[in-house]
Amino acid sequence: MKTQIKKICCIGAGYVGGPSMAIIADKCPHIVINVVDKNKQRIDQWNNNNLDKLPIYEPGLKNIIKKCRDNNLFFSNKIEENLREADMVFISVNTPTKTKGIGAGQAIDLKWIESCARQIGEFAKDHTIVVEKSTLPVRTAQTIKTILEAYTAKEKKEKVHSRSFSILSNPEFLAEGTAIYDLQNPDRILIGGDDNCALNALSDIYLNWVAKDKILKTDLWSSELSKLISNAFLAQRISSINSVSALCEVSGAKINNVAKAVGMDRRIGQDFLKAGPGFGGSCFKKDILNLIYICNHYGLNEVANYWQKVLDINYWQQKRITKVIIDNLFGTISEKKIAILGFAFKPNTNDTRESPAIAICNDLLEEGCYLSIYDPKVEKSQIQNEFSKFSGNSFNKSWNLAGSVYEAVSEVDALIFLTEWEEFSNLNYEIISEAMNIPKWIFDTRNIVEYKKIKDYGFKLWKLGEGIST
Ligand code: UDX
Ligand code: UDX
Repeated sequence: MKTQIKKICCIGAGYVGGPSMAIIADKCPHIVINVVDKNKQRIDQWNNNNLDKLPIYEPGLKNIIKKCRDNNLFFSNKIEENLREADMVFISVNTPTKTKGIGAGQAIDLKWIESCARQIGEFAKDHTIVVEKSTLPVRTAQTIKTILEAYTAKEKKEKVHSRSFSILSNPEFLAEGTAIYDLQNPDRILIGGDDNCALNALSDIYLNWVAKDKILKTDLWSSELSKLISNAFLAQRISSINSVSALCEVSGAKINNVAKAVGMDRRIGQDFLKAGPGFGGSCFKKDILNLIYICNHYGLNEVANYWQKVLDINYWQQKRITKVIIDNLFGTISEKKIAILGFAFKPNTNDTRESPAIAICNDLLEEGCYLSIYDPKVEKSQIQNEFSKFSGNSFNKSWNLAGSVYEAVSEVDALIFLTEWEEFSNLNYEIISEAMNIPKWIFDTRNIVEYKKIKDYGFKLWKLGEGIST
């Protein structure tokens, strides 16, 4: 039997749900897609006529929204109505780490997934294909199945028209900042499941723009686990190169030269070898914590400890940057003013979740300095929110958000690059030099500054993975 998908409902209009549904809408004009979210403000932002005010900044996103929105792509809070009409439902809600109870600090809180499964069980019609898009612990599909089976068993018992469900796992590999490109040109599409009809229905959607040989069909558990492992491997590479960055600084080697030489080995590869202030983003830490939890659960403590080290190095990398700054500013930054350039966890996104800037800024504020922060896309309320999660409101009066790099550097003792935004690679160092207090320290954690271009202006430069330039 061939299932033709005509209507999709996606629960969760976030960084994953929004862009991934926009691409399906763009590539499949014959499918109507309703993205629903319980958060009314978020939906209003997706429906904003001013496309610069979408809730998510992603290069290329606004053109697709402009083309598809209100044609075959709709954003609303009408969860019940849209679930009733959908042939296929994507679950794309957030999956935070548990803060309380068993597994607190490691396990993923599945309460939103459970509530989605219950909503689907309550409202879906006839046969519905349920697709896990969120990154989930292995065997979560079983939880969803069990919940949905409870609904169908009740219907069978009461001899009313019985519905049916197929569950698929279809993890999303997009990276923020390049989400549209990644969705349009995926390395692979992974679909896990045991119902061939459902597997083919989802794969047919992707075949509208993805080559057949890039669509990988597996069992459910392998698909769920593959996503966790992909993120763990990516994070592991970053922790590996970051650990080497510290060794370069003390030994006189240069991290970029080492990364290049190592990455030219075909078996290792060039990507994901950029040393930095530690990885951020909503996924890496959460997914590794979850992996650690699963390993411990199955008694694989050595495996859990191995992955824990990836997180430990990431934490240490952030901590040691603050120490380097303090040591070079004569052992104290109390009452000094410091410029922070970049707050997002990576360029081309307004996302700040787990950004290393949060912990680094917080450590600096703890030492009594004043921060002047500039980021091209992050709003003040968001920075405020991140700080308050970390340290309450204690530092409200100790920082400001500047409107430009040049405003941020006015009368600062040091400037710190924390995100490699494109505009930071073409700065006028003559203006910056005149604005700063001597001895004009620059701390570059993202390999943005070339010493030969700035040395005539009297700066002192420390680069991550190189140390002090002379
Ligand atoms: C999240 C996870 O971080 C990631 O691991 C997973 O792969 C996909 O979901 P993201 O899209 O970045 O990624 O999350 P977020 O931007 O927070 O969006 C989730 C949305 O789901 C929110 O807008 C939230 O309001 C919504 N939601 C959550 C619902 O609509 N219903 C719920 O029951 C729970
Ligand atoms: C990641 C995965 O790449 C993606 O496949 C998955 O779907 C979600 O998680 P994302 O977190 O959006 O995507 O961005 P990514 O480009 O992976 O960067 C994560 C963090 O690692 C950023 O803080 C970035 O600055 C850092 N990073 C990345 C490095 O420090 N060095 C690198 O070489 C690459």
